[in-house]
Amino acid sequence: MPRVIYVHPNGERTELEVPTGQSLMVAATGHDVDGIVGDCGGVMSCATCHVFVDPAFASLLSPPGDTENQMLEYTAAAREPTSRLSCQIVMADALDGITVRIADPQL
Ligand code: FES
Repeated sequence: MPRVIYVHPNGERTELEVPTGQSLMVAATGHDVDGIVGDCGGVMSCATCHVFVDPAFASLLSPPGDTENQMLEYTAAAREPTSRLSCQIVMADALDGITVRIADPQL
């Protein structure tokens, strides 16, 4: 299974294997990864799943759609060039090793 590495605000890293087709938000909340809240369950209405994608992987993702783009304007931590909602990042084999820094704060 492809792996994701979550980098916590203190620099610690959590690595998980994620089934293809599962979002990085669902993977994180299912494994109690601190800092990914996912209040809305993935319907892009909370922005509490904000992550900063490692630039090496950001270009492998489809660009954010209109709704995600709008929600990224309301994140608790300031938006950065590779900001994404982790509920919209769907694991695929090509993303093996994707590294995302967890935004802080989320609320
Ligand atoms: S879980 Fe709510 S926007 Fe991603």
